[in-house]
Amino acid sequence: MVKLNRSFWVLILFSIAILSIQFKGSFGSESTNEAYVTLLYGDEFLLGVRVLGKSIRDTGSNKDMVVLVSDGVSDYSKKLLKADKWKVEKISLLANPNQAHPKRFWGVYTKLKIFNMTDYKKVVYLDADTIVVKNIEDLFKCSKFCANLKHSERLNSGVMVVEPSEALFNDMMQQVKTLSSYTGGDQGFLNSYYPDFPNARVFDPSLSPQVMKTRPVPKMERLSTLYNADVGLYMLANKWMVDDSKLQIIHYTLGPLKPWDWWTAWLVKPVDVWHSIRVSLEETLPGTGGGKTPNDEFIVKFLFLLPLCGLLFCLYRSIQGRDLFGSLSRSSVYNLYCKLRSNGYSGLSTLNSNYQLHTGSNSKVPQYLGAVSVVVCFVAVLTSIGVSFMIVPRQITPWTGLILVYEWTFTIFLLSYGGFLLVIYQYGKKIAVETTESSVDDSGKVHQRADASCDFTTWYYGLGMVFLAFAAISLPYLLGVTSLFLRLGLMIAVAIVLVSFMTHASEQLAIRWFLKGLEDGDTTRSKSIC
Ligand SMILES: *[C@@H]1O[C@H](CO)[C@@H](O)[C@H](O)[C@H]1NC(C)=O
Repeated sequence: MVKLNRSFWVLILFSIAILSIQFKGSFGSESTNEAYVTLLYGDEFLLGVRVLGKSIRDTGSNKDMVVLVSDGVSDYSKKLLKADKWKVEKISLLANPNQAHPKRFWGVYTKLKIFNMTDYKKVVYLDADTIVVKNIEDLFKCSKFCANLKHSERLNSGVMVVEPSEALFNDMMQQVKTLSSYTGGDQGFLNSYYPDFPNARVFDPSLSPQVMKTRPVPKMERLSTLYNADVGLYMLANKWMVDDSKLQIIHYTLGPLKPWDWWTAWLVKPVDVWHSIRVSLEETLPGTGGGKTPNDEFIVKFLFLLPLCGLLFCLYRSIQGRDLFGSLSRSSVYNLYCKLRSNGYSGLSTLNSNYQLHTGSNSKVPQYLGAVSVVVCFVAVLTSIGVSFMIVPRQITPWTGLILVYEWTFTIFLLSYGGFLLVIYQYGKKIAVETTESSVDDSGKVHQRADASCDFTTWYYGLGMVFLAFAAISLPYLLGVTSLFLRLGLMIAVAIVLVSFMTHASEQLAIRWFLKGLEDGDTTRSKSIC
């Protein structure tokens, strides 16, 4: 009994030792009185916070990194951030006192809670869509409140240095209901709370401590653009309007274009920097290296392999000769054989195919067929692009995203528009069988169109579309164009060419497949003649 008791105590002591080691391990041995802070409202910005953390550590900082998480954040995200060496602190949302505010701004006043982080002497707050590209420890020299002044003389709350104080925070909380907010969020409030901010002096970290002591402590200071270089600024001139080499914080403020969405990398040049940090993220939890998530990885593999498997299956079936395309080509071979025997002038058919489209039995082609085909084609294009963007995970790497979207756009388009062409083909066949009164001579003319060039034309148009679809995206990169507007312009220019090509192609394809159906129908009917 006594023995058991003793081993019990040993066990307790042992676990305490283990726990304290773990505690030290996860929070760093020294607790700092200065910290980097960010805010996470939901899982969507998780990758942003991970990359931000990595960028801070890459500049050699050992200070605490605190992420304030609200209820919308999943347990897994919290676990992952802890594994990434963030201190995770749960906070309740501060309700937005403004009646009329954008829905996404429901909890943005929560940001004011950083003024209440009195465990720290000073905190540098960074939005989840910022990254640190150069050491910014200097910012902790900032006295009371520092932020960057943006366009229209307003402070931006994306990067701030704050000296937490309960008195200050309580004062803010009292004024939250009375002060107006031009954004309906925290940024507007802070602009009202610090009305003199545009007149504040620019923060100069290079001042010596002696000089600093001789001056009164400023209530607020302005940060230079280097500490909050927003990508909007880059877009205008297609270059940083400040010295590139001195850049310290990049802020990805382009409305809905967030760096973690794969497609932004193809539009916005500075997103490259963000991705270069993202790919270097360590695997702190299984399957999270390079900013991946196990769930997305599974979907990516599935999406990548499914069309390929479908293609292989079709190839296998066509080798077996049981599919429609197989039987089509066999019937054309049979057709050719018929022609050679009965007419003997099949050599003309390829040469004249274009001419024959506009003569003879062309009258059988329904008038509206071309127009219907154009409409179906464009609906199919838009649907396949839309569906592809919907099913491909958003936060994957730019190349994976592009390849998957191409793969799925082509697959869905091939299935939908190809299906439409097959319907047209069957329709033509039905018409041919119905018009039994047409003369043998007529059917002979129809036979001239029966040639392999039909499939060749389909290939020609299909490959043309594929080529233009690739050109639309790759041309700006082949030409080395980096400006967003020029990139978009080039993409739109190629897209216009693609649209006109598709209009022509879809019209021709429908007519060709209809005539092919017509002629195959004739063949079935006139087999006896052969
Ligand atoms: C502010 O901080 C104090 C002390 O840490 C805490 O008691 C209080 O609940 C905080 N206020 C809010 C609104 O979070």
